[in-house]
Amino acid sequence: MSKIDNTQPIPLIETQGDFAFPADFLWGAATAAYQIEGAAREDGRGLSIWDWFSAVPEKVLGGDNGDVATDHYHRMPEDVALMAELGLNAYRFSVAWPRILPQGTGDINECGLDFYDRLVDTLLARGITPFVTLYHWDLPLALHLKDGWLNRDTAFAFADYAEGVARRLGDRVDYWTTLNEPWCSAYLGYEIGVHAPGMHSKQAACIAAHHLLLAHGLALPRLRAHTRKSARLGITLNLTPIYAANDDPETLRVVEWVDKMSNRWFLDPIFRGSYPEGLFIDPGVTPPPVQDGDLTIIATPIDFLGVNNYSRALIRARAKDNGAGDSKTMSYEHVGAAPGSQYTAMGWEVYPQALTDVLVRVHRDYAPRAIIVTENGAAFTDRWDGSDYVSDPQRLRYISEHLQSLSRARAQGVPVQGYFVWSLLDNFEWAEGYSKRFGIVYVDYPTQRRIIKDSGRWYAAFIAAQRRQWRL
Ligand code: FCB
Repeated sequence: MSKIDNTQPIPLIETQGDFAFPADFLWGAATAAYQIEGAAREDGRGLSIWDWFSAVPEKVLGGDNGDVATDHYHRMPEDVALMAELGLNAYRFSVAWPRILPQGTGDINECGLDFYDRLVDTLLARGITPFVTLYHWDLPLALHLKDGWLNRDTAFAFADYAEGVARRLGDRVDYWTTLNEPWCSAYLGYEIGVHAPGMHSKQAACIAAHHLLLAHGLALPRLRAHTRKSARLGITLNLTPIYAANDDPETLRVVEWVDKMSNRWFLDPIFRGSYPEGLFIDPGVTPPPVQDGDLTIIATPIDFLGVNNYSRALIRARAKDNGAGDSKTMSYEHVGAAPGSQYTAMGWEVYPQALTDVLVRVHRDYAPRAIIVTENGAAFTDRWDGSDYVSDPQRLRYISEHLQSLSRARAQGVPVQGYFVWSLLDNFEWAEGYSKRFGIVYVDYPTQRRIIKDSGRWYAAFIAAQRRQWRL
């Protein structure tokens, strides 16, 4: 197992801004079941849409899949020890629905729950707060065969599943998020088909999104009923601020529309109980099947909003007859950032100010009771010396600059109560397979060896400095 190598100096980079975080701030790292667990056929686990999708040729780079991933299912104690070594006080992980209900509904597979039960106990024994996500994209395949998120029944099945998990873990777990990034499930999975289940229909995406939102709302009272009084319930959304590349009125109009499609599609129903006006304007798309009472269920109050942010979008309108953009009525294009801007290995612009802006905006427009940054991080090409040392200066700088950005939002009164770096470990990056590394811990896949990267050493030192300030 990797130990923090104190013989190498920790690379310091200049810091600025207010780094006074409160003593109870959550300092964590995040992962998701399909991306790290492996053990895809063990202990009664059923198949998920990602097992199936990654077996379809050309869907995942290199034909990769999550069969073994980082083998976390078998190496969980070692991985929790790594978290302790990093000084994390929180860990965000997801529960695999097909481990708990192999067919999506029906009898609970207790063996599947046993794994998370052990994980929670191992975390608590190390003083690490467990932070559970119930759905990080691995829908049981059996439910997909009954139309998945296009079927309203899936929302009710999710609520049953949520209760099953809460009944087992609710006596020890206080942080619960229902869904991770439903925008990705709906848009990437049902509209542009780059994620499971690989559909290509805008109409399907609107329906899937509504059922995902309904699933979230239906699960909340079930979670409330089977957790402690101290439990805090929320949802995680991926939010990307949209900036105008010029001040042309057409550009301002598309900025507003893209913001609706990427951010307000989920924020508005959750916090305002309505879909944004004009969301379903595309020709041939009809609004989703909203039944009486659905929006009240969806707007059930939550205790915190989880925000995932990686970058921004810079766009401008373009002439309609170019036939480009996502909509026949709203035509736009992405604009390259200023010369000298940096991009990650995913091609995402490094733009730390986006995090401040998105947090301030969400606080101003929706005023969630609390906000927790549930993902932020970057893929870069790391330099491993083949032994004990991994250098990743760009990721280190990325994390440091985003913490400064987060701190600026807090200074403006935004109630941010935690930060989770994506990700603890290099892992299966969905359609990109293992080609993109986001970890603060390097994984040598052939041997499954873990090596803490420079960014991880920096993050550990940063957390330790926060602790010293509070004499914790
Ligand atoms: C987010 C996902 C997470 C990971 C990061 C890079 O959208 O929630 O699983 O893939 O992106």
